[in-house]
Amino acid sequence: MAANPVKVVYHGHATVSIFSDGHHILIDPFFSGNPAAKISADAVNPDFILISHGHGDHVGDAIDIAKRTNALVIANFEIVSWLANQGVERTHPLHIGGGNTFPFGYCKMTIAHHGSALPDGAYGGNPGGFLLKLNAGKTIYFAGDTALTYDMKFLADDNVDLAILPIGDNFTMGQDDAIKAVQLIKPAVVLPIHYNTWPYIESDPKVFQERVIKEADAGCIVLEPEEEYLVP
Ligand code: NI
Ligand code: MN
Repeated sequence: MAANPVKVVYHGHATVSIFSDGHHILIDPFFSGNPAAKISADAVNPDFILISHGHGDHVGDAIDIAKRTNALVIANFEIVSWLANQGVERTHPLHIGGGNTFPFGYCKMTIAHHGSALPDGAYGGNPGGFLLKLNAGKTIYFAGDTALTYDMKFLADDNVDLAILPIGDNFTMGQDDAIKAVQLIKPAVVLPIHYNTWPYIESDPKVFQERVIKEADAGCIVLEPEEEYLVP
């Protein structure tokens, strides 16, 4: 295993970049129309784009970024087919429970309880999350938009270094359920996302941070958009 540091950059809402072993993995690239975003879609140059589900605040600018950068887009079969129909050339379909080895490491699609309709109303398959076992030696779980699910308990076997969890309530887990998720997953550190973008999902990440440390025996990092974090 290489000892290169793994860097995470939070772009606001549910958009996250992971830099590992010279690769840039961009998850749920929502910049245009994202009230939390501080940069435009033109400013990112990923070589991989991961999309957790079909909703507009997650598919976001994926088409434009993929066409400009020629990044490989990894998402469920239905979303990948929809992207291909719109001219995205490099895609890799996964589906829930399945994973594949990519140049950055192993990526498995995990269960999420949510919806996945695409922005034009097309069927987007089932929503998911991602478990990334990076070649750089770190394991990152990106939950996607999801309710609390007891299946998260299986992730405790994966020694997750960083769990990226929604806390905004209304559309996903709120803080109480996210705390239970942390207790099930047992990650070293949690990064809360999917909060404060709109009034429906207002949530105080500092309150969550204190609760994670006190109630779930894990670390918690709160990032401002464009703030970066080295996974310990
Ligand atoms: Ni959603
Ligand atoms: Mn969402």
